[in-house]
Order: sequence, then structure tokens, then C-alpha cells
Amino acid sequence: MGSRLVGYGSYLPEKIMTNQDFERMMDTSDEWIVQRTGMRQRHFAADNETVTDMAVMAAQRALDNANLTVDDIDLVIVATTTSELDFPSVGVQVLGALGATRDQPGFDVRGACTGYIYALHCARAFFAAGMHRRIMIIGAEKMSRFLDWNDRSTAVLFGDGAGALIFEHSTSSYSGIIDTVIMGDGKCFDMLHGTSDHRISMNGPETYKKAVTLMPEAAQYIMEHAGITAENVDWIIPHQANLRIIQSGAGRLGFPLEKIIVTVDKHANTSGASGVLAMAYAFDQGIIKKGQLILYPAFGSGLTWGASLIRV
Ligand code: UT7
Repeated sequence: MGSRLVGYGSYLPEKIMTNQDFERMMDTSDEWIVQRTGMRQRHFAADNETVTDMAVMAAQRALDNANLTVDDIDLVIVATTTSELDFPSVGVQVLGALGATRDQPGFDVRGACTGYIYALHCARAFFAAGMHRRIMIIGAEKMSRFLDWNDRSTAVLFGDGAGALIFEHSTSSYSGIIDTVIMGDGKCFDMLHGTSDHRISMNGPETYKKAVTLMPEAAQYIMEHAGITAENVDWIIPHQANLRIIQSGAGRLGFPLEKIIVTVDKHANTSGASGVLAMAYAFDQGIIKKGQLILYPAFGSGLTWGASLIRV
């Protein structure tokens, strides 16, 4: 049993912060941010707008896109680490907010920036086991909750938003979530983590070194596992943390720049929402077409990393 992608949706909060806005608030420059990260702007949720609110918006748009209602969904898995409430899960809150009536389950995975790959990994296993017919994967983050406006080294890097993908079971194993691999190294926990007073602690250069090796490694592993090379892949949609990481990783894998989907300039790093938002963006722009093969690698706090191969 495999799966197929039947709908997508995304939500970005209205408020946009440009690099120039940061220039007015702290000792930074548009030039530094663009050169070091490729970021030009990011969306920030309103004070009263929650992770669940954004997830609900993306979920409703994915349902509309798939021509389904919430009761057609059997399970919601949300990748997030920034939810305002420790419990219940954003997944079950989304189902409630959308008016689900079939007592469907929802839960969250905390894989940081790799969270959406961890969620896809769960979904692939559930489809393979024949356990659920339709699964919605949501990546939703309010990174602005964790921003320290006195720390320029992290404040400029993140953004808020949510994306959703709906998969349906299929008898073909060549469509939908074809493969996934997830990895972790808790010994490197110190490199990048949230603090108890809700800030982000990151050793940027060390995290960078890990990202440029581990993300391509996961991508390479999954291509080898599927018996394919870069030439067989239509698009690579990497986690959007830094344009330099994206380009270096794609280069190592032998992908020409034209095959890379980049949204880091518009969304900055939205952690567990990043790849899902990028996929939705690429659909909205008509960049990726039905039937194409997408390589989907990610890397983040944990450390966590992994990749998925998706035929859309
Ligand atoms: O989401 C998944 C995990 N996250 C990542 O993968 C992020 C990985 N790391 C990175 O992307 C990069 O390390 C950063 C973008 C975070 C930083 O870039 P960098 O080239 O590694 O810079 P750096 O941290 O080595 O800092 C270089 C200089 C420092 O000044 P000195 O010591 O050379 O005088 C910083 O203080 O840049 C300074 N700096 C800034 N300057 C202007 C740091 N942040 C800023 C800033 N504006 N916002």
C-alpha cells in the first residue's frame, strides 16, 4: 500500500518584516542578512494569532484544494515545536476547530526543522500498514514567539506560517510518499535548542557545518535506496534555513540551481513549516506539476535530519 497527494494549502500571516525593518531596530544590515542567509523578508503572526490558528487556515485551504471536508480526513499529524499550549496537540485542536464529527485522531511531532519529514515518515508507515485512508500533514510554527530582539544573530533568521498536505492511500508504491528516512543525534543538542525562557540558542557556524553535510547525506541515501540519481528528480525542495546551505547541498548532490525551489528569501526559516510552505508555494506558482518527482531533505535542532521522496 502506498499513497498519493490529493491536496495542499498554506497560510502566511499578513504582517511582513523586511530586512530594512530590522535595520531600524538593531545593529544589522540588509547586506549582511542577504549575503549570509539569502533572506529578504519574513511573515510574523499577530500577537493573538496562534500556531493552531495558522494550522487551521492551511488545513482548510488544503481541504478546499482537495475538494474534501474535514470528515474525509482520518488522521492529522502536525509538525510543530512552537505551540502555545503544552497540551492538547495542535493536531486535535485543528480537527476540533474544523468541526470534525468522526472522533478522528490528531497528534503532533516535535522534530524541529525536520518535523515535517518525521510526520511524513509516520504517514508512510501508516499507509504501508493499511491503517488510515487519508492523512493530513501540517507544518505550523510561530517562531516569532521565541525571538530575542536583543540577539541579532538569531532574530533576523526566522518567520511564521503553516502549510498542509493531504495524502490518500493508493495501491501504487510509485506515487505520494514513496520513501522517507529520518535521523537524529541528541549528542549535538547544544548546537541549537529552545531555552526555558523561550529564546533560541544557536551556534550558527557549527550548525551550518552539520547542515551542509547531513542534509545532502540524507538526500543521497534516499536516492540510492530508490535506485535513482539527481537526473531522475524533477525538483529538490530543501528545508529553507539559509540559501548558502541550500546551494551547497544541492551542488554536492549534482543538482543544477534551476532544479532547487527557494522560498527562504520570502519566508525566512519557518522551521517545521518550511518544506510544506515551499511545496505549496511551488504549486501555487505553477512551478511543480502533477506527476513530478520531488526530493525533500531537511535538517534542524536535535540534531535531526532526514529526507523524503514524493511523487506529487
Ligand atoms: O533551521 C535549521 C538549522 N539552522 C541552520 O542550519 C542555520 C545554520 N547557520 C547559519 O545559517 C549561519 O551560521 C548564520 C546565518 C546563522 C550566521 O552566518 P555566519 O556566516 O556563520 O556568521 P557568524 O555567526 O560566523 O557571524 C559572523 C559575524 C559576527 O561578527 P564578528 O564576530 O565577525 O565581528 C557576528 O557577530 O556576523 C555577525 N553577525 C551579524 N552581523 C550583522 C551575526 N548576526 C548578525 C546580523 N547582522 N544579524
